[in-house]
Amino acid sequence: MPILKNISKYLDGHVTFGAPRHDGVSSSRAKRGDPGILKALPLAIFLCLINVLHAQTYPVNKLLLETYGVHDLAEKPAFQGGYINFGYWKNIPLGKTITTEERIKASQALYELVFEHLNIQKEDSIVEVGCGRGNGCVALAEKYHPVSVTGVDIIPQQINRAKRIHKKSIKRHAPSLSFQTGSSSSLPFPDNSQTKVFSVEAAQCFPSMKDFAGEAWRVLQPGGRLVVTAHFATSEEGYQALRKLIPTVDQGVDLLIPIEQVRSAFQKVGFKEVSFQAIGGDVFDGLQKWRLNVQDVKWAENYFVSYKKGFLDYYLIILEK
Ligand SMILES: C[S@@+](CC[C@H](N)C(=O)[O-])C[C@H]1O[C@@H](n2cnc3c(N)ncnc32)[C@H](O)[C@@H]1O
Repeated sequence: MPILKNISKYLDGHVTFGAPRHDGVSSSRAKRGDPGILKALPLAIFLCLINVLHAQTYPVNKLLLETYGVHDLAEKPAFQGGYINFGYWKNIPLGKTITTEERIKASQALYELVFEHLNIQKEDSIVEVGCGRGNGCVALAEKYHPVSVTGVDIIPQQINRAKRIHKKSIKRHAPSLSFQTGSSSSLPFPDNSQTKVFSVEAAQCFPSMKDFAGEAWRVLQPGGRLVVTAHFATSEEGYQALRKLIPTVDQGVDLLIPIEQVRSAFQKVGFKEVSFQAIGGDVFDGLQKWRLNVQDVKWAENYFVSYKKGFLDYYLIILEK
């Protein structure tokens, strides 16, 4: 059926929000020649086409889809406790072997740092962009009980995992805690609907900082706050060096664009800078120490070296609309 083939080709490498992907049961029945199914097939194809045309589709880098979708990075030794971030190690002693509990604490501490700067109030409607398995959103809901917290991630598998793993928390906080597939370039919320937006170690992957800045601005109410923490190149020269040191830069996963490009994307849409800090000293030394604990995390060495050479840093960016 060429038309079906074309539909699936179109979806390949794209994530479609709102359109059902396919129905394996009906297609295998159709193969066996079930006459009822065959009669309904033209209508099904028509409906499928309408759905595809009306759904929003976004290109997703195939390696990103593989990294966070097919493979669950949170299961890898570098990451623990369902978090996928380098961690904030400021209050964790690095002079001895790091325990798994301390590794998890470091990831939680990165979120806590962001929460602290969000000034969270009970009346807040909050969105996390690039929520991964959703641990951060759950921690926020448990501690602050805002009106709403919605975790958004471009990879549908991540959202399915978040919904499955946190089923009880979602029920307990209903309807305040939820997870939704969506992209940094197109957030699934109306204009001026949120009081806070944040992102933890995801913005380094965003394909367009200009689009993300525009979307964060659009969904935030006037006076709303945006807090972003992630790693970026320290300069254009740093970026060129990172392209050689970290293969995922040119592969389109960790884009690590120069920090000045990030800064100007937010400035251009009108964000007021509350603070802009490099916090790499409290990130990369701890990650490196952990890497030496779990010997198989070879890739993390490149991030450490890049930081030490001054090509890469970790940033905490606090902005207001
Ligand atoms: C390194 S993980 C961090 C996950 C989580 N914030 C944490 O700290 O555990 C990055 C996440 O961002 C998501 N992501 C990457 N690009 C995105 C985009 N353009 N829009 C929304 N999410 C994106 C990935 O699917 C992944 O789940």
